[in-house]
Amino acid sequence: MDTRNELIQIENERFLQTYSRLPIVIENAKGCRITDKDGNTYLDFLGGIAVNVLGHSHPKILQAINTQAQRYLHLSNYFYQDAQIEFAEKLYSITKFPKIFLTNSGTESIEGALKLSRKWGSLNNKKEILAFSNGFHGRTYGALSLMDNPIYKNGMGPFLENIKIIPYNSIESLMENINLDVAAVFIEFIQGEGGISSVSQDFINLLIELRKQNNFLIVADEIQAGMGRTGKFFSFEHFGITPDIVTLSKGLGGGLPLGAILAQSHLANVWEKSQHGTTFGGNALSCAAGSVVLDEISGGLLNDIQENGSYLTKKLHDLKNKFPKLILEIRGLGFMQGLVLSFEAKKLVEVLLQNKVISNATHTNVLRIVPPLIISKNDIDEFISALNTSLVSF
Ligand SMILES: Cc1ncc(COP(=O)(O)O)c(C=O)c1O
Repeated sequence: MDTRNELIQIENERFLQTYSRLPIVIENAKGCRITDKDGNTYLDFLGGIAVNVLGHSHPKILQAINTQAQRYLHLSNYFYQDAQIEFAEKLYSITKFPKIFLTNSGTESIEGALKLSRKWGSLNNKKEILAFSNGFHGRTYGALSLMDNPIYKNGMGPFLENIKIIPYNSIESLMENINLDVAAVFIEFIQGEGGISSVSQDFINLLIELRKQNNFLIVADEIQAGMGRTGKFFSFEHFGITPDIVTLSKGLGGGLPLGAILAQSHLANVWEKSQHGTTFGGNALSCAAGSVVLDEISGGLLNDIQENGSYLTKKLHDLKNKFPKLILEIRGLGFMQGLVLSFEAKKLVEVLLQNKVISNATHTNVLRIVPPLIISKNDIDEFISALNTSLVSF
């Protein structure tokens, strides 16, 4: 077997170098712990970047995948499949969004939502799409067209036309840019890659009012903030708004690739047969795993997230009081929180790794905290203690 260094060297030679990986090679993962090939075990406070909502190797997920694998892996969307249909029913019973399209990833959900919005726009004589600065929606051309951070786009244009990106939370800019030509507004209620920034209630109240006057679609990107992460199933539920379309992915398949586009009934007939499709979207294994995730979330996990999320917030504030020059602000909700630091967050990520905690930096100076949703108060205490030890060294 190759050693850690050999594997890293091969990766460097063979892969297009687009990722900044942590300098460890993983052997296995269970619950909220990850073990590397050198035998070190880490507390996972990243959860596969907000994917492993039930932790790693959850026994019910393994059992569901195993049972499904004995029956079949892939059939295609040419067939009716109980794994997909049961999953969709569970999602409906939680979300009450009556229409669903299953995908493989976040960016694929965004592409589909864009196509659905554009098609609705063409039926209603509306062309323009609005999105917000510092947003993140994915890596494909439609998603990138909704984003303004040059790091993701430089040199790769042209992007889609008739999309305007306006400042997040700017009431004036929203009033200026909404008109009868706007077909849809894409929004993250808490921006993940954008530094765990939340939208303001005033901004959302205005958005709701403007939708009444101008008739456009509100598309909620819940790919990172959804699936219970903020203590409610969707982050938009904190703001008293009902979107027309919702995009989901990340935690939806509990570690398998799965995404969804949810739509209100007035969009049910916008797409005609063959106007959208996917080979792997709604894969049976992913849906079997996703059904377990939905059962767990509707079976009381939201209460735990609210309780333990508040516990985490309190502990983070205690640390902020202890290190006021290093921690400038604490943002976010539940298990989607960010520590705004006075220095580059990736340096803290490196020290936390030495202290056996896996974490991640976003937006240069924000430590992103998106652990599995099943973490306990003991795990939080362990994380805070490692954070305390790590901050002392700055
Ligand atoms: C809010 C949001 N939307 C879309 C995406 C894209 O998802 P994917 O990487 O599965 O394409 C992400 C990924 O981080 C995200 O956080």
